[in-house]
Amino acid sequence: MMKIRGRIFAVDDDELIVTMLARALKNEGYEVQFQTTPQDVVANIIAWQPDIVFLDVDLAEEMTGFDILAALKKDGVGAEVVMLTADDSAESAIRAMKLGAVEYFTKPFNLDEIKIITGNIIENIRRKAEIDYHRERVCPYFEHGLVGESALMKEILKMAEKLVQARAETILITGESGSGKEVLARYLHCRRQKAETAGQSHSGPFFAVNCTALPENLIESELFGHVKGAFTDARVDKKGIFELAGDGTLLLDEIGDMRLDLQAKLLRVLEERTVRRLGGSVDLPVEATVIVTTNKDLKAAAEQGDFRKDLFFRLSTFAMQLPPLRERGDDIVLLANHFLRYFASKYLKKGIKGFAVEAEKAMLSYGWPGNVRELRNLIERCVVLEEAETITKEHLLPNLGGWAGIAPAPSSRILLPEDGISLEELEKDLIRQALERTGANQAKAAKLLGISYDTLRYQMKKFALS
Ligand SMILES: Nc1ncnc2c1ncn2[C@@H]1O[C@H](COP(=O)(O)OP(=O)(O)OP(=O)(O)O)[C@@H](O)[C@H]1O
Ligand SMILES: [Mg+2]
Repeated sequence: MMKIRGRIFAVDDDELIVTMLARALKNEGYEVQFQTTPQDVVANIIAWQPDIVFLDVDLAEEMTGFDILAALKKDGVGAEVVMLTADDSAESAIRAMKLGAVEYFTKPFNLDEIKIITGNIIENIRRKAEIDYHRERVCPYFEHGLVGESALMKEILKMAEKLVQARAETILITGESGSGKEVLARYLHCRRQKAETAGQSHSGPFFAVNCTALPENLIESELFGHVKGAFTDARVDKKGIFELAGDGTLLLDEIGDMRLDLQAKLLRVLEERTVRRLGGSVDLPVEATVIVTTNKDLKAAAEQGDFRKDLFFRLSTFAMQLPPLRERGDDIVLLANHFLRYFASKYLKKGIKGFAVEAEKAMLSYGWPGNVRELRNLIERCVVLEEAETITKEHLLPNLGGWAGIAPAPSSRILLPEDGISLEELEKDLIRQALERTGANQAKAAKLLGISYDTLRYQMKKFALS
């Protein structure tokens, strides 16, 4: 069966016109529905959900094509509308466009022209849907992907919002490894895509470039592009990432490790907002938001001459510092639950429900040198390996590398009760327990208590135990 190219609804009081239109469009692979009276026309169109509606302006006195068009737009119907009319005055064409029609045809019209225009409209609808889909797919994920309700993280989100509103062109994000610098960069990208500035929405992609992962000899042409013949291997023109990012976002990861000569070039791009391909002679505009990240102390690096001071100052204008996970308090538990749900669903282990109180306490007192990434990996391992409904502290412990930093687990020691204890009573109680456990074998009981046989005999006598 032929694939349906689109759904079209045609309305005209002239039977001849609608049947001719329907036949032509059906032959082109469209599904077509039509009617020749104004009766229930708006409801019928809404119910059928067409991609395009052809509307005759002079349909009926009581209801013109303009009335229908206005009603459809008022209802927020997504279909594109093409007006058909016998009247070729500019006035009615303008009126149609103002009401939101995409096209306007004067009768008698050329069917081939109708076919071409219809194809173009359908293609535009598809393209728009693709962009919307892309945006939907990326954005909600990352918006929920950035979890954090602590005061520190709220500050970060507030600042992010301000930078988006201000349309900041260059942003520096610092923070320890695994603290979520890339997550924040993607969040900024999504927020910016959604913020419709002056009726203009951004649809450019998100590009991440790791400044240390690219080979030395390639990084420059990757970033800036090159023209054919710029160097031996440059056989064709190549766009750099600054160009490819369009009005999207370019993330330059681990900027602290960038070569000094490249730092100078980067500074020029950021200041002039233009980029020139290697060997090229034209300055091309840079529209992307440039986000640079590092887990190094750039200030210290700049003072030691490992990082260009001028670039450091340029980057510091809009700088955001992500706090380490250990400083985010309850966010630790929030994130742990977030990852638990995520991985339980991913690995089809819906039986795992949550964390024991002791496990939450343990997570809160741990130092998390690997930050959110370490927490995420830990929870993923637990979900895969454990079967219990509740993740306990014992489940977490063996998986934590740097756990030694934590105080010895309190439950393994005898805690002195708030209002004191009688040492004699305690001794007596422990000796009785030892005798019970060993079936009154005094030699074994003495060993359990770490005292000599004679001492035990003496104590038994003292406490009148036999
Ligand atoms: N706020 C957050 N909410 C949810 N997940 C997060 C958050 N922060 C970080 N993560 C998770 O932790 C992982 C590491 O984050 P990310 O890659 O952004 O860290 P980074 O700071 O760029 O680390 P590195 O310095 O090693 O490049 C991510 O894959 C993400 O799953
Ligand atoms: Mg990173």
